[in-house]
Amino acid sequence: MTRKALSNESTFMLDRICIPVADELSGVEGFLGEELVSGIETIDSITRYVVRNGGKRVRPALMLLSARVSGAKSGPRQAAAIEMLHTASLLHDDVVDDAAVRRGLPSARARWGNQVSVLVGDFLLSRASRIFVEEGNQRIMRALSEAIGRTTEGELLEIAHQNDASTDAALYMRIIQGKTAALFDFAARAPAISAGLGTSLEESLGLFGFEVGQAFQLADDALDYVAEESRLGKASGTDLREGKLTYPLIVALERSSAEERASIRDALIAGKATREEFGRIRSIIDLHGGIEATLRLARELAERAKGRLSSFKPSIERDALAMLADYSAERGE
Ligand code: IPE
Ligand code: IPE
Ligand code: MG
Ligand code: MG
Repeated sequence: MTRKALSNESTFMLDRICIPVADELSGVEGFLGEELVSGIETIDSITRYVVRNGGKRVRPALMLLSARVSGAKSGPRQAAAIEMLHTASLLHDDVVDDAAVRRGLPSARARWGNQVSVLVGDFLLSRASRIFVEEGNQRIMRALSEAIGRTTEGELLEIAHQNDASTDAALYMRIIQGKTAALFDFAARAPAISAGLGTSLEESLGLFGFEVGQAFQLADDALDYVAEESRLGKASGTDLREGKLTYPLIVALERSSAEERASIRDALIAGKATREEFGRIRSIIDLHGGIEATLRLARELAERAKGRLSSFKPSIERDALAMLADYSAERGE
């Protein structure tokens, strides 16, 4: 998603969040170029394409700010590695989801095909791992392998429950904790491990990332129902079409009449809702406050995350982290 594709207000908020680490974020772009050169033309053109397409760089900003509050040396190179991990997950996710558009342009799988996209995703994972290996810290490596494993588990759990109308809030939370929040957790935790802050502060920053990641995905799932495609830089309304029961619909389903429940089930199981069906499901979600409930939960998680920051001394970076928590939950408003 390009910055300009976002609403002005959330772009403005993200720009403010990034101010304390603006120079390092420019450095991230350089490393994303340098570290991904392979000499194999297919890899080089695809990595150039996906990296240049932008993206909001939320996870690198999180890592750099976490490094500042931790007093860690982790800098733009590690932050570029986090973006590589994220980009790998997007390449893989677009294959899983059959997505045609990503960051406002044809997805890599639409341009080069699924086989190549999966393998370039693996290449990105390997280059990101190489950067963390160089730190020579066993605990960082353990946290990294945990994050990659949990992301994959989350994606697989979601596939296992595609078109499953019995998906409930607890299962949904497990899915997003894996597929999205595990990487946010690692981005925030790794600098604290590098700095040797000790388990309690590590845990505070890790949980901060974990909760912000969940808020971020909840807001994303609200946006899938309410935002314009031009704002998202990816297709909207896809979750229902892909048979994914996300939080707005889970809430609606819980509060629905038998007749409404039947419509939701049919649309979910058919997995290719027409415009009319989508409109009907949207109105059921609206009637039962599904979007509000989703954003409320996102805000609660963001508040909980901000509470984790109280163990760190006040600083502009700590304020920026708090703002990042708010931003993650408010993107959908
Ligand atoms: C997209 O993440 C995947 C989700 C976890 C919702 P972003 O919204 O951070 O994607 P980019 O990097 O800005 O494109
Ligand atoms: C996002 O999955 C999680 C990962 C990137 C692993 P989604 O499928 O919900 O995200 P979008 O909507 O394609 O960005
Ligand atoms: Mg997807
Ligand atoms: Mg997906």
